[in-house]
This record gives sequence, C-alpha cells and structure tokens, in this order.
Amino acid sequence: MLNIAVLVSGGGTNLQAMLDAKARGEIPNGRFACVVASNPKAYALERAKNAGVETEVLVRKEFSTQDAYDDALLGLLERHNIDLVVLAGFMTILSERVAKAYAYRMINVHPALIPSFCGQGYYGLRVHEAALEYGVKVTGATVHFVNEVADGGAIILQKAVEVQNGDTPEILQKRVMEQAEWEILPKAVSLFCDGKIKIQAGKAVVIE
Ligand code: GAR
Repeated sequence: MLNIAVLVSGGGTNLQAMLDAKARGEIPNGRFACVVASNPKAYALERAKNAGVETEVLVRKEFSTQDAYDDALLGLLERHNIDLVVLAGFMTILSERVAKAYAYRMINVHPALIPSFCGQGYYGLRVHEAALEYGVKVTGATVHFVNEVADGGAIILQKAVEVQNGDTPEILQKRVMEQAEWEILPKAVSLFCDGKIKIQAGKAVVIE
C-alpha cells in the first residue's frame, strides 16, 4: 500500500474526486496519508477532514528562504513516509530541489492539453481564458510527472474536452473538471499505485 500526499490550495474538487474514487475501491493500492494546504483557508482542508485524512498547512511566505520552506515540506513528506505526491490545484511553485527529491514520484493535474496553455502564468481560470482567447475548439486536461520545468514533465494521461459556443472561462473550467480532470487524476493515481506507469526513454508509458 503506497502512502499518498495531496498538495492543495483551493476548493479541492480534484482532491474530492480522488477521495471518492478511493471510497469506491478504485485505488486499492494507495492510501491518502495527508493533505497539505498552501493556505489555512483552503476548503480542500475541510474535504480532507471529512474523509478522516490528516491535514497540514505550509505557507510559503511564512518561511524566510526557499531552503527553509523546502526543508519543512520535505521533512513533512518524510514523516508521513510518502511514496507519491499529488499536486491538485497547488499554486505554490516548488523548487528544483523538491522536484528532484520526488522525481517520477510527484504528479500534477493541469487544466489543458499540454503543451498548449501551460508553463509559467498558466494556472486556474487563466488557462481557460487563454484557450477561449485563442479560439481552440478542443481543450482538456493532462496529468504529468513534475520535473524542474513548469508543466514540463512526462505526460501520463490526457483527455480532450470540446469547447462550445458561448463558453465563459468559468463554464469551460467546470466542463474540463467534470469531463477530464476528475476522471484522469484518480485514474493516474491508481495506475501509479498499481505500478503500471513505466518510464521509457524519458516518456511515461501506461501498462494496462
Ligand atoms: C484545477 O482546475 C487544476 O487543474 C488547476 O487548478 C484547479 C484546482 O481546482 N491547477 C492548475 O492550474 C495548476 N497549473 P480544485 O482545487 O477544485 O481541485
């Protein structure tokens, strides 16, 4: 059984999708050991408590240096014996040191089809604003390993979602979450815990 930490910043609907999948028996080889929030008001913390999962809060600006923050985060993950770190709407940029410590053991969900609308500055609603501004007809979500490049790690799963006439960023965000993120993030976690994601020549290959 692998120990999973989920890092969150906001509403935590992706966290909820994973907790629900776990409750349905869809993540048999993983357990949610702790939820770490980047701010104490994140509603995701309530979701974790309701599911009986331990919570921690780590606020980047309360640490005077990047190293001090990294020490605290890495120490916390070690204390919980974490095997897999899941970034689920986590808005604090992690350092290269943290990314390297959890290389191929840390995954992120991004609300677009990477390499579109990703990298620095593309997060949350901004991603959907950019997709609508460009006029793409298809967008979606991506789950990928985290490396030192923003949204640059090996892609594990992607799912496409149609853009419709009259979409606002909010409407598109909701459709991408419902039709893609809440499906592929729990699935990727389950695949990881089952040992079904292999790295071959720098790419992630899912062995179904
Ligand atoms: C999700 O759409 C997630 O993909 C996005 O933030 C939202 C968090 O929602 N993450 C990023 O943009 C990271 N680059 P949630 O708190 O309800 O899961």
